[in-house]
Amino acid sequence: MAAPRQPLVVVGHGIAGLSAALAAAPAPVLLVNRARSGEGGSSLLAQGGIAAALAPGDSAWAHARDTAAAGAWHNDIRMVLRLTAAAPAAIAWLQAQGVAFDRDQAGLALGREGGHGVARIVHAGGDRTGARVTAALLARARAAAHIQWREQVDADALLLRDGAVVGVRLRDAAGCSEVVEAAAVVLATGGLGALYAHSTNPAGCTGSGLALAQAAGARMRDLEFVQFHPTALATGGATLPLVTEALRGAGARLRDHRGRLLMDFHPMADLAPRDIVARTVWQAQRAGPVSLDATSLPQGWEAAFPTVLAACVAQGIDPRCMPIPVTPAAHFHMGGIAVDADGASSLPGLYAVGEVACSGVHGGNRLASNSLLEGVVCGRRTGEVAAQRTCMPTRPGASTRLLRRGPGLDAADRAALRRLLWSAAGPVRSVESMRQAQDELQAQDELQALAAEGWQARLAAALLDAARRRPGNLGAHWRDDGVASVDAHVAADGQRRISAQ
Ligand code: SIN
Repeated sequence: MAAPRQPLVVVGHGIAGLSAALAAAPAPVLLVNRARSGEGGSSLLAQGGIAAALAPGDSAWAHARDTAAAGAWHNDIRMVLRLTAAAPAAIAWLQAQGVAFDRDQAGLALGREGGHGVARIVHAGGDRTGARVTAALLARARAAAHIQWREQVDADALLLRDGAVVGVRLRDAAGCSEVVEAAAVVLATGGLGALYAHSTNPAGCTGSGLALAQAAGARMRDLEFVQFHPTALATGGATLPLVTEALRGAGARLRDHRGRLLMDFHPMADLAPRDIVARTVWQAQRAGPVSLDATSLPQGWEAAFPTVLAACVAQGIDPRCMPIPVTPAAHFHMGGIAVDADGASSLPGLYAVGEVACSGVHGGNRLASNSLLEGVVCGRRTGEVAAQRTCMPTRPGASTRLLRRGPGLDAADRAALRRLLWSAAGPVRSVESMRQAQDELQAQDELQALAAEGWQARLAAALLDAARRRPGNLGAHWRDDGVASVDAHVAADGQRRISAQ
């Protein structure tokens, strides 16, 4: 009798994880998540849409060029070209899964966001794109016979046999754990924005999957590149509602505390790449509050921006006639588990996709509305590839190890860490601030214990270490202590490589 086939374990119910799980069919999939499905995770909150060259005169190449320019030419150009070439088919696939994108007289309605030379972003339900896409994929996955579900369990250890990942340990809220053997494991656990004092990410986005891969010894890449969104609603809390860039695409303008236009110095004005706008807002805030003036936008807020409208109204702000107070906040991690074009990590049997992964596609600063696109395109590719992997029969004498992420920090220590990262590795950094933070993590008695025991602190230490090693300013990694900006030759070389394709 043939041995039962081990499932592909996919960790994470966001758009990347769901796309991977669906694409793995007919291979059996065990889809696990820390929260209940349809709760938590950044996909659900994504307001910006999905970028694809769909307009007459636009092209995958132009989309790729904008992606690489926004990424400070630190991108893997081949990955970029693959992503942008696959974008129109990804939109068609999502439509086939039941996503109803917004339409106008010309067909799919195309919006514009920062860093894009043309309008090429589709939305669903206005600024509810992430929720709509997630709901459609969840419904498909719920109906798929090859997918089994485990919710409210934490994948807190990886099972390795002879150096290959062959399973995960799942722990439920009551502390009961179970080791599940797998043909392969796909991490789709999202980013680490909630490790920062101010973030647009939900509280659960603390890099749990990244820390798991770190503990297992997977190679990491570009950890220092954290994107700060320039316009989070300035409520003063830890999780800040996003004020989508699509508003600036529709004509909203950033103003300083005296009401002067903030972005006029840049040729793309308010639609400059996100890292540049975030730093400008950050610097202008030294003189006083910064606001987004969306009062000139046409009617139709309820259809186009229902989420922003509700968030503002909850704070007593009517954005149709009042400026919106905004501030930068941690939004997206470009760095992560180093993966190839198939999502394969440096550990055989371990794959990663979406924000937890780093294939180099986003470079030093992700282009707006490329993240859901990456989740769908790379998620599907990784699901297909990982599903082909079959377990080798266990060799007699094989060495089996369970590599644990280890305990996390308690609430007070997490809060201290978030403040530390915000001040040392925020939108504008200095070698001195990063050194001090690393010293604090290593030297203070209590934090020394944290660094040894708290996986969030280990992840933060790795991020700070990567930031200190980055010699110059590049994309979202920006220091104010006089280092050189990205060399002109880096940009020229990137342009040459993309032109050669
Ligand atoms: C936004 O809507 O401003 C964010 C979109 C994105 O993160 O790509």
